[in-house]
Order: sequence, then C-alpha cells, then structure tokens
Amino acid sequence: MSNVIELKNVDKSYTNSGFLKKTTCAHILKNISLQVEKGTTLGLVGESGSGKTTTTRMILRQEKPTNGELFYEGKNVEELTKEVEEEYRNNVQVVFQNPYSSLNPKMRVGEIIAEPLVITGKYNKEEIKKRVRSIMEKVGLAQDYVERFPSEFSGGQRQRIAIARALIQNPQLVILDEPVSALDVSVRGQIMNLLKRVQEKNKTTYIFISHDIATVGFLSDTIAVMYFGTIVEYGKTEDILENLRHPYTEMLISSDSVRNLSEAEEESGEIPSHYDEPKGCPFAGRCKYATDECRNVTPQLKDIGDGHKVACHNAESITLKSVVKINRRKPEYQI
Ligand SMILES: Nc1ncnc2c1ncn2[C@@H]1O[C@H](COP(=O)(O)OP(=O)(O)OP(=O)(O)O)[C@@H](O)[C@H]1O
Ligand SMILES: [Mg+2]
Repeated sequence: MSNVIELKNVDKSYTNSGFLKKTTCAHILKNISLQVEKGTTLGLVGESGSGKTTTTRMILRQEKPTNGELFYEGKNVEELTKEVEEEYRNNVQVVFQNPYSSLNPKMRVGEIIAEPLVITGKYNKEEIKKRVRSIMEKVGLAQDYVERFPSEFSGGQRQRIAIARALIQNPQLVILDEPVSALDVSVRGQIMNLLKRVQEKNKTTYIFISHDIATVGFLSDTIAVMYFGTIVEYGKTEDILENLRHPYTEMLISSDSVRNLSEAEEESGEIPSHYDEPKGCPFAGRCKYATDECRNVTPQLKDIGDGHKVACHNAESITLKSVVKINRRKPEYQI
C-alpha cells in the first residue's frame, strides 16, 4: 500500500520577539514522524495544546516545518512541480471543529459547497450544479437547501455542508479536526457514520483529530497519541486500545480520564510549559509510574514489535489498564 502523506522528523518552533521582552522560543512539535496509507484513517489524539492542529497546519502547508520533511505520494512537497502543487492543494481538504464559524454567513449553501470547484476555473456552470447536487445527496442535505444561508441551519446540518464542501473535488485526503466535538451527542453519531460511509465508498484517506480516544477509535486504522508536541505512542488501533503501553494513553482511555480536564489536571499534575521545558520525560510530573530515570532522561519513540511504537522507559515493565469500550467492528457509531 502507498502512503498519501508522510511526515519525517518534523519540528516546529515559534520565536516570539518583543520590544521590551527578551526573545523566547517555543518548541511546539518535536520529531514528528507519521504515515497515512491510502484509504485508511490515522487518528491523532491528545489533550488540548498537544500539537494536533499544528501538525495539520504543516500538512495543509499553511506553515513550514522548522526541520524535517513532508511527502505527498512519496514526493517531497518542497520539490513539487507547479501542476502537482495545484493537485496537492485540491487533494488535501479540511473540516474544522466549529461549523458556526467556518462557513461564510453571507454565501448561500450552494455557493459555499461549489466554491472550491469554481476556484479551479475548470468546470462550467452545468457541471458545477450537477456535482453540487450529487454531493448534497451523498451527505444527506435536501436539494432545496442550495438557496439558503448557513444561519438557517443546525450545527449538524452545517457540519454536513462543511463536509460536502471538503468532498466536492473528491480529495485524496481529508483532515477532520474535531469534526464532531461541537455537536450535540445525538448528532455526533450521524456525522461519524456519514464519514465512514463516504470513506468506504470513495476510498478517501482521513486524518481524524479528537481529544476523545473512543471517537478516534471508531474510524481509525492507526492512532498516534500526542503529548506536549511529541508522539508518545503510535500503532494499529487494536494495539493502542487493547495493548497500550504508555501511561498517558492509559490516562486518556481510563473511564475517569480527561473528559473533565481541569479536574484531571488537579489530580495528576500540570502539563509543562513550552517556554520552560522539563528535563526527562514531559509526562513524568503526571505519571504514577515515573522513576528517577524518567525525570532525567527523555525517552525516545521505540518500536516494541510489529510497528507499535512507545516513548516510555517502562513500556515493557509496567502493566496498564486497557479498557476497550469501543467495538470498532460495530457498523454504527454508538455513544
Ligand atoms: N504561533 C504560535 N506561537 C506560539 N505558540 C503557538 C503558536 N501556535 C500554537 N502554539 C502553541 O502550540 C501548542 C499546540 O497547539 P495546537 O493548536 O496544535 O494544539 P491542539 O492539540 O490542536 O489543541 P486543541 O485540542 O485545543 O485544539 C499550544 O501550546 C499553543 O499555545
Ligand atoms: Mg486543535
């Protein structure tokens, strides 16, 4: 199988220089390497601030990595010809968390969905109309909505509009950045099932981002668990859910996990600051298994077998709770 996207050793730092303040540097992404095979889903999971959106900004080429490389279908994106560059931009789309702010309120639904096609300048009016009708049907939007404005719709319907817009060019890769987090629980399942059906039909590749490992588990073939700008555990979904080896993954998965973040932080120490990085493992301050080695030596991401990678000194000596409440084989998403 071939990779649609690959990141190799990507670092991202931001330098903030102030007039009176001294210049500070925040190292936000550290040595991120990941691959997404065609037609599969990579789940990116981690708490707020772990670097999920920053990683996707590199893939969307909104920003350049400070170090490292990005490959599209095996080609280094820095070396793409103009034609492939354009193909890349059309082939990599994104759906954001908040369907209220991501749709232009002054445009009609039909125009919003059609816009990416119109921009290419390659299609005539009839063809555009035909494709808009077809994609609206696929995502479950009634045809007579084309003339309406986003304000007339519910959150779930707006997210369907955003998904239709992202899919209209039949892209290779869709980045779904918390696509259901802002929606009512009752609507989440509908959108998750819609995304799954679309993928099965079109063989679309997804990068699916969420705080919630249960939601990520439903769609993902592989999962990368991010903490403080690094990947701390990476592998096939079954490995991450059923045979997890990193204490942070255990924390995310455990029943009283990070659903209530403020409570969890109080219980288990603080997330370190990017401006004052701790020595050793960044999770050590919150980890109940931490030893002196953890507090002094930064663990590297190591393959512990069959592509399952873990960055933990104690990965092979501690026993962690794998709580699998998620049955991925169920055809429908259930809360
Ligand atoms: N331009 C910037 N300058 C300095 N720091 C930044 C900049 N952009 C992002 N960050 C920091 O990078 C870290 C990662 O942010 P990012 O948005 O990638 O997190 P996330 O995992 O997507 O979080 P969330 O779940 O809240 O969306 C945060 O600590 C954020 O404050
Ligand atoms: Mg984010």
